[in-house]
Amino acid sequence: MQQVDTVIIGGGAAGLMCAATAGARGRSVRVIEHAKRVGKKILMSGGGRCNFTNLDTRPANFLSANPHFCKSALSRYTPWDFLALVDGYGLAYHEKTPGQFFCDDKAKDLLDILIAECDRAGVDIRTQCSVTAIDVLTDTEPYRFQLATSAGTVQCQSLVIATGGLSIPTLGATGFGYQIAGQFGLDVLPRRAGLVPFTLSDRWLDVARELAGVSVDVRVDTNNQTFSDAMLFTHRGLSGPALLQISNYWQPGDALTVDFLPTLDVSAQLDQWRHEGAKAEVKTLLSRLLPSRFVHAWLAADARLSALAERRVAELNREALTALVDAFQRWRIVPAGTEGYRTAEVTLGGVSTEAVSSKTFEAKAVPGLYFVGEVLDVTGWLGGYNFQWAWASGWCAGQVV
Ligand code: FDA
Repeated sequence: MQQVDTVIIGGGAAGLMCAATAGARGRSVRVIEHAKRVGKKILMSGGGRCNFTNLDTRPANFLSANPHFCKSALSRYTPWDFLALVDGYGLAYHEKTPGQFFCDDKAKDLLDILIAECDRAGVDIRTQCSVTAIDVLTDTEPYRFQLATSAGTVQCQSLVIATGGLSIPTLGATGFGYQIAGQFGLDVLPRRAGLVPFTLSDRWLDVARELAGVSVDVRVDTNNQTFSDAMLFTHRGLSGPALLQISNYWQPGDALTVDFLPTLDVSAQLDQWRHEGAKAEVKTLLSRLLPSRFVHAWLAADARLSALAERRVAELNREALTALVDAFQRWRIVPAGTEGYRTAEVTLGGVSTEAVSSKTFEAKAVPGLYFVGEVLDVTGWLGGYNFQWAWASGWCAGQVV
């Protein structure tokens, strides 16, 4: 029989942070990771450079049934705290867009820091290890849990669930954390893929395929939420940062409204061209504002618009002008769906925050059981927020487990 103070199931961002923090307090900590190596998502993140935090992290950047839940942890472990940690190791990094921090070289440099912190704190990391059963002990104080694992039986005082969400199963994602929450009678809110590309069908899918690889700066709206950033056409539909962001707020059947010229009053621009007596064709004038490949395909996608493409602006009546403005500033599209967990960066929903303390992350009804990171019903925007949540929640639980 093996006995340790703390077992952490899941060696991802939140689990490693929790392990290093608890170990530094002198606790004996074991991390159980079923994959071949820890931190696979860290390695894949940010295009291999890991967008590891965002200096503008605010509770408003997170979705949760209880939007207040994340406040305590985010204020106790801030992006500056994480920067201080990586600065201590001399990590080379840069601020890409305001607030968003990436490794200069590779995400592995960041993972190496977390592993070094765990080594320094004496954390015992077991990879390719799986948990087959968890039992609650009643007469073995201070040991409260007994785990049957592929590496033998282990008892612990505190058990931390840091198994993450469902996105990208090939990187080790499982629903194990939700299963454990269910075993202990904790509520698990419905889950769905977030920060995920959209799929299209029918003629818009054909247009997207034709434009695959083309990126346009847009403003996209749905359900009273707006994001301005790049949109990318793909062979399946729509992606790019603006579309990934809005996917967190989208439900099947909802329409997206896309403005391809968000900083321009297209109606006023068309009027100006008319008054100037511009002789160029509509498609040529619009190609001054947007990638011409996009303009040509967009006008060709609609029979009414394609008839206008080779006309001069001066020849257009009010109705035709309105149709042009609608096509470029108010494109309304109901996506067929999303690409799902196969490519999603995060999972929305999860273990209900009502069941867990926002200070310690301990389950209110199960002393000694903790949930940290993405397994909880807390999901951040794109831009380093999800890792900041993993660091903050892992660190807070690491103070007490
Ligand atoms: P995480 O998923 O990191 O770790 C969970 C761990 O538990 C994994 O190692 C898994 O193998 C293990 N596990 C699961 N089931 C288990 C079981 N039954 N037994 C044992 N172990 C088990 N965020 C961000 O802020 N900036 C970014 O740049 C990106 N980029 C990005 C790219 C891609 C491709 C993805 C998929 C995701 C991102 N993210 C991101 C999101 C970010 O990766 C994510 O929110 C955090 O990794 C969540 O940290 P956790 O520790 O909660 O879960």
